[in-house]
Parts: sequence; C-alpha cells; structure tokens
Amino acid sequence: MAKSPAKASAAPAINIGISEKDRAAIAKGLSHLLADTYTLYLTTHNFHWNVTGPMFNTLHAMFMTQYTELWNAVDPIAERIRSLGHAAPGSYAQFGKLASVPDAPGVPPKALEMVRILVTGHEAVARTARGLFPLADKAGDEPTADLLTQRLTVHEQTAWMLRSLLED
Ligand SMILES: [Fe+2]
Repeated sequence: MAKSPAKASAAPAINIGISEKDRAAIAKGLSHLLADTYTLYLTTHNFHWNVTGPMFNTLHAMFMTQYTELWNAVDPIAERIRSLGHAAPGSYAQFGKLASVPDAPGVPPKALEMVRILVTGHEAVARTARGLFPLADKAGDEPTADLLTQRLTVHEQTAWMLRSLLED
C-alpha cells in the first residue's frame, strides 16, 4: 500500500541527539519512576489522613510535607517522558503494573508501621531512580540524569528522616 504523503502540518521527527532506542529505554525507566512516585505519594497522603496515636501532630504534618513534595515531583518526571517522545502513563491500572512499591494497605496500620512502610517505599523509589542512572549517563541525557539526581537526594534524605523516628 502506498504511503500517504506527509501532511504539511506533520511534526518533524525528534532529533535531540539521543537515539530512538535510548529514548525508548529511558522513557520506560522513567515510567517506572513515575508509577513508584505516584504510588508513594498516594500512600503518604493516605497515612496523613489515617494516622492516629500520640505522634499524631508530628506525623500528620510530616506526611503532608512529604506527599506535597511527591505530588510536585510527578509532573517533571512525566514531562521528561514526553520530551523524549513517549506517552506518559497516567492511570491506576498502568501505575499498578509499573510500580515496584506496593499499594497502600487497605486497613490503616499503626503509626510506626506507617513510618516503616514509608522508609521502605522511599528506598525502593531510590533504587528505581539509581537503576536508570547508568543508561541516562551513557546516552548523554543530562536532563534525565539531573532529574534522577534530584529525586535520589529527596528519597534518600526522606528515608533517613523517617528511619530516625524508629531509632532510639
Ligand atoms: Fe490535610
């Protein structure tokens, strides 16, 4: 079948100096990071709503700071995927398939168990971001490498702050 002629308004192919194969692989890795970040955002907001006990004030406020940061982080990750020429996932079904962190528990856990769940969540997201770093570096994708560096800083710092609540 003859190829239909390109329309005058058709967008030109992406030519930013990163190969199509690398753009696809980086976008896939960022999709996992987006799903992890969104899932951890939702769990943190859930815990902000449902936390109980003597640490209520501390944790309710701390979780709000953390879910706000995570909420603000999903947009740059999704928009980097778009800049690489791929569709950003944005449904619970897609996030469920892509995320390495589990969905929030159906029954709210005790306050310190919430903290434990969030420590492991932030560590898991850090591992997802770190795993993508060599590929972004090799492809010369500095914007993705920069984004991953920022996310790693936040997740490792937040994991430390939460972990400190569990130490004597
Ligand atoms: Fe609130």
